[in-house]
Amino acid sequence: KLEKVWLAIGFITLVAFLTTVGIQAFASGQGAPSGLTKVDPENVEETPPFDDPGLHQIGENEYELVMILQSYGFTPNEVTIPEGATVHFKITSKDVVHGFEIAGTTVNMMATPGHVNETTYTFDEAGSFLILCNEYCGTGHHLMSAELEVE
Ligand code: CUA
Repeated sequence: KLEKVWLAIGFITLVAFLTTVGIQAFASGQGAPSGLTKVDPENVEETPPFDDPGLHQIGENEYELVMILQSYGFTPNEVTIPEGATVHFKITSKDVVHGFEIAGTTVNMMATPGHVNETTYTFDEAGSFLILCNEYCGTGHHLMSAELEVE
């Protein structure tokens, strides 16, 4: 008789434990960090804003720059930005993790498949800037770059 009681207690403990683990897994799966919007890497070109990559004016001297990264290039790979413009970058990767660094600026972030990575920068001075992948992504990593003209 006593054995059955202990067995029942053991069973209830097990169920309680599994329920707790399940709830925690569910909660962490739901709670994506803020600023990390999801995007299906398989359908990047069909998912806004990536269905229309490039520079889009969204306000007075304010722009959104949408870029797709993929081994081993950027889409688009040449962008012209008006001097003084504030640019909101929205980028993602179609395959592996790439880096997104604009040499000579503070822009330096990762492009992670499945996420929209965002940052904002104001280009106060005219010039030519190089966008580089600074995250090793394969044999063509050193070739992965794009050009940004501020004029
Ligand atoms: Cu992409 Cu290194």
